[in-house]
Amino acid sequence: MSLNFHLIRHPVVQHKLTLMRQKGTSVTEFRALAREVAMLMSYEVTRNLPLTRKKIMTPMESMSAPVLKGEKMVLVPILRAGMGLLDGMLSIFPSARVAHIGIYRDHRTLEPVEYYFKASKTLKGRDLILMDPMLATGNSAVAATDRLKGAKPRSIRFMCLVAAPEGVRCFQRHHPDIPVYAAALDRKLNSHGYILPGLGDAGDRIFGTI
Ligand code: URA
Repeated sequence: MSLNFHLIRHPVVQHKLTLMRQKGTSVTEFRALAREVAMLMSYEVTRNLPLTRKKIMTPMESMSAPVLKGEKMVLVPILRAGMGLLDGMLSIFPSARVAHIGIYRDHRTLEPVEYYFKASKTLKGRDLILMDPMLATGNSAVAATDRLKGAKPRSIRFMCLVAAPEGVRCFQRHHPDIPVYAAALDRKLNSHGYILPGLGDAGDRIFGTI
């Protein structure tokens, strides 16, 4: 995979992802694990956010201390499964703004259809983290990134739990400048666009709509 694909190999992330993959994992457990994995991944995903310095007073003396540079970041879950990663990210970035993008896959063509978009007017110049647990065909992630690039953000990062090689290739063909962070790169897609071995339908498992 290319330089802009980052596999997060941390053993705790890997362990928790295995629990998520297992068929017998309950909705309650799956949801909690999604939150925990998102929290753990957030450190890698935001590793190169720019810092600036700010003069502060400690109880001892003044110092110039590092703080994140720029406007509040914007978390962008792709509805609906992306919502499963939102809580974990918000617990690390509690003041982040949230933009929602609703894209569903037409089950026949597997093409993305946008049905909802709600973001603050001020995405310009901000750091955006686009989130979807599964990078399958890549079509939804590409469509969402097309949309977000139009708002002229400072940066976009794409974060998922499980990626298929087909999805990574598709995404990187369209958006080679956008880094992709994943906890696993799986074998392939099946004929219905599901990832193998994967973890099934992430939205169904998060929301209990099985
Ligand atoms: N979406 C899912 O939820 N699971 C897959 O395997 C592929 C797309």
